[in-house]
Amino acid sequence: MNTKWSPGSPSTPTSVSTLRRIQVGDVELALEDHGRGEPLVLVHGFPFDRRMWRGQIGAFDGFRLILPDVRGHGESEPAPPPYSMTTLAEDLRQLLDHLGLDRVVIGGLSMGGYIALAFAARYPERLSALLLIDTQAAADSPEAREKRAELSARARRDGVEAVAGEMLERLVGGRNVTPEVADLVRQMILDTSVEGMVGALAGMAARPDSTPLLPKIACPTLVVVGQDDAVTPPETARSMAASIPRAELVEIPSAGHLAPLEQPPAVNAAIRSFLARALARPAAR
Ligand code: MLT
Repeated sequence: MNTKWSPGSPSTPTSVSTLRRIQVGDVELALEDHGRGEPLVLVHGFPFDRRMWRGQIGAFDGFRLILPDVRGHGESEPAPPPYSMTTLAEDLRQLLDHLGLDRVVIGGLSMGGYIALAFAARYPERLSALLLIDTQAAADSPEAREKRAELSARARRDGVEAVAGEMLERLVGGRNVTPEVADLVRQMILDTSVEGMVGALAGMAARPDSTPLLPKIACPTLVVVGQDDAVTPPETARSMAASIPRAELVEIPSAGHLAPLEQPPAVNAAIRSFLARALARPAAR
């Protein structure tokens, strides 16, 4: 059973040389730090880790790419559950403070998007732009909460291996996923600690509806969705983008819920083009 966190447990780290560990409050978080320039922080989904951004490494010249593992995921230490989205956004804020970064671009996929929205609600002045990828603003339905509680109980009782198959089917069941991507996703699920899984499930189930926040988001925002995303589908992304004043929407063909892993060139091109416009400074006189 994968109940204990041990440093270095993920079997295929993306880049060992850039791995850093930073103590924030009660946990030590692991992150990769690549390149120089405008800080671009990408937050992974559930139950994954920073390896899901492997197709983004090296794709953003002029940016410093920061890829944290959420507490209890990847190589970040777990803490006792639950992990509210506010707690996870606070982890992020402390991480940025530690790195001396005031304003950043934050991007999040799915759960990472819930965390990015919780961050946007608390620290709007620290966001130069926001990327909401294969995610949603709405809270869980009662059925979704019940499902999370069942999954959590099974993970506690039987370990993450017992729930990995079902999760894999839900998250990468689509026709766009190569066997190699499916293997990586499976490995990331298996490398998530039980505490991390239970903590995040409880936090996601309790997350508030962020829909009222959307019209108040003032920074440029890019909403990205895989056209075949069955978990957070394109209709959801369209209505989220329509509610954010400075949002743009890009739909990625031949991609499901994990568009950045499934179609990295298309996602990277969309992000690059958006950031070039969003962060363009007025010419100095
Ligand atoms: C994720 O990819 O982070 C999950 O699908 C989010 C969720 O379960 O709501």
